[in-house]
Amino acid sequence: MVNQNEQHLRQWWDNRASTVESLPDVVGASNYPLDTGTKRYLYNKINEFLESAPCKHICLDAGCGVGLYLPTLLNKFEKVIGLDLSFGVLQKMPALLQEDDRVSLNVGSVFSLPFKEECLDGIFFRSIFQCLPSDQVLPVFIEFYRVLKPGGIAVIHFKNRHHFLYHLGRIRRQLALRKKRSISDNELPPEAEQFVPGEVYHRPWSWYLDHSQRAGFEIISQFSWQLFFWNRLERYGLSKTMETMERFTRQTKILERFIRHDGINYYALLQKE
Ligand SMILES: C[S@@+](CC[C@H](N)C(=O)[O-])C[C@H]1O[C@@H](n2cnc3c(N)ncnc32)[C@H](O)[C@@H]1O
Repeated sequence: MVNQNEQHLRQWWDNRASTVESLPDVVGASNYPLDTGTKRYLYNKINEFLESAPCKHICLDAGCGVGLYLPTLLNKFEKVIGLDLSFGVLQKMPALLQEDDRVSLNVGSVFSLPFKEECLDGIFFRSIFQCLPSDQVLPVFIEFYRVLKPGGIAVIHFKNRHHFLYHLGRIRRQLALRKKRSISDNELPPEAEQFVPGEVYHRPWSWYLDHSQRAGFEIISQFSWQLFFWNRLERYGLSKTMETMERFTRQTKILERFIRHDGINYYALLQKE
């Protein structure tokens, strides 16, 4: 089953790499232009997580894509291994990164990492969980746990289903349920998904964190970002106002805890004890 999924995923990403030109588009990075302040806020948060690695010799960028985050990782770690399922995607990486002495690139899968036990200090895993079948989430955490050194960290990112708009929708649905009994697809557990390569799956943050703990990880810290879908707000000319308000709320300690888990993009810092 894993092999079949892996094959379909590889074909999907190879095909994308050969048909899409712009680098951010290959990896599906949002084309919404974030404010400089937001970019700095996110960059600082990710850096804080990476900084916490007790040893900073070698870090794996698992599912590195075209290397958008390799420079950030190279700022903290002496060496970075970029691993991706798709050779086509890796080939799109800028030559400057491909030729950097501190970077080594591998074609491989997070379902079965080509590394021995306890050899890495850090793992960075951004924007891949959302592309994987739900039944592969626990095996991936187990693989990460296996290859990390004791004390090693994993910085993971996923798309959170239980975001701010979901909570608003749930209240609306609960009111509607009084009139008519029905269940929304949004309420179904991730295990009930029909997996299709190329689809983006939003799953509850607590579901992901629970799986990380089942693999043995300790959750050290977490934050989320993006309360709204920007393209929807842009239609009403509200995206920049809401972006500024969200940034202000998240940077204000007393307010931050009220929306800590409500962003669509969720990051967690995990540690192997
Ligand atoms: C949305 S992109 C994210 C790329 C990068 N992490 C970033 O944040 O820009 C997803 C990447 O994961 C890779 N990928 C998908 N399934 C994978 C797997 N099982 N093992 C390793 N990489 C995988 C794809 O080839 C693609 O490059």
